[in-house]
Amino acid sequence: MKILVTGGCGFTGTVLIKKLLKEGHKVTSIDTQWFGNYLRPHKNLKNIKMDIKNINNFSLKNFDSIIHLASIANDPMSEIDKNLSWEVSALASLLLVKQAIKFRVKRIIYASSGSVYGIKKEKKVHENLSLNPISLYNKVKMSTERILLSFKNEIDIFIVRPGTVCGYSPRMRLDLTVNALSFSALKKKCINVFGGKQIRPNIHIDDLTDLYIFLLKTNKRNKGVYNAGFENKSIIKIANEIKSKINCKINIIKNNNDPRSYRLDSSKLLKIGFRPKKKISDAINELIFLYKAKTLKEKKNFHSIKWLKNAIIG
Ligand SMILES: NC(=O)c1ccc[n+]([C@@H]2O[C@H](COP(=O)([O-])OP(=O)(O)OC[C@H]3O[C@@H](n4cnc5c(N)ncnc54)[C@H](O)[C@@H]3O)[C@@H](O)[C@H]2O)c1
Repeated sequence: MKILVTGGCGFTGTVLIKKLLKEGHKVTSIDTQWFGNYLRPHKNLKNIKMDIKNINNFSLKNFDSIIHLASIANDPMSEIDKNLSWEVSALASLLLVKQAIKFRVKRIIYASSGSVYGIKKEKKVHENLSLNPISLYNKVKMSTERILLSFKNEIDIFIVRPGTVCGYSPRMRLDLTVNALSFSALKKKCINVFGGKQIRPNIHIDDLTDLYIFLLKTNKRNKGVYNAGFENKSIIKIANEIKSKINCKINIIKNNNDPRSYRLDSSKLLKIGFRPKKKISDAINELIFLYKAKTLKEKKNFHSIKWLKNAIIG
């Protein structure tokens, strides 16, 4: 298949594109490369440094599918420049879907977020529950879903609502819960937990990238919205799991400015045949191994929020 990946140089895109190339697909990545470029050159890869806001000038001739990852990718980052967040996600996605329809691309798979549900007490947060986005990031994601779904009669739209992703990527993100806590335990022998009771769904980066590939191939009648988070765990439980593997202290800080708490029910994905293979514990073990092997190192651009604030927006 000929596949466009937007945001292909990001944390998820870097792992995903390596797998797509291994499967023999022809891949084009469009990315502003805000966090650098860790994609290795490959004969079937076109790696283009470009803003998706300019997608109107880009030919999508002969592309089969788009995996749409480009976004300002979490709550605090979205707050840095609110207009930019709307432009990059909602507005650019509108331009992207129109361009895709013009060139008869068959399918768009969009990386939304499980955080669109906001705070939910229900034990099973499935795709039919109402959305209650509480941050700008959540609102932008929900609106972008709706923009894309409004074209569902003209192009097949698959929406994925991932939990927090864990695990290693060459373009590492050290702002994601499991990654951040594991890295802090490894480097500082100490983990700071804000609140701790919040329940969050988690998914391993290998499972999420396998899922995007699965959705490229699944029957078009499966199009629609899917939760993707198979382990719902409180932050304190995650911290304790890390402590059981890495000798460290846990400091609980009562002041918690991020109250989002929800569990994802991802059984709809299981019904169409997707099976996750990894757990949070695999991610922690892999991070320990890679840290000891000096493959996982701290770089300024791995702290997305600070990096975006200082290096990009000024
Ligand atoms: N990582 C997670 O835990 C998680 C969870 C749920 C949803 N998501 C979503 O998955 C997607 C990928 O996330 P990620 O963790 O790989 O984040 P990331 O920040 O590492 O990757 C996003 C990429 O998009 C690029 N980008 C941003 N604006 C762009 C623009 N205007 N044009 C072209 N490229 C642009 C950035 O340079 C970056 O490389 C995002 O949409 C994010 O919201 C991520």
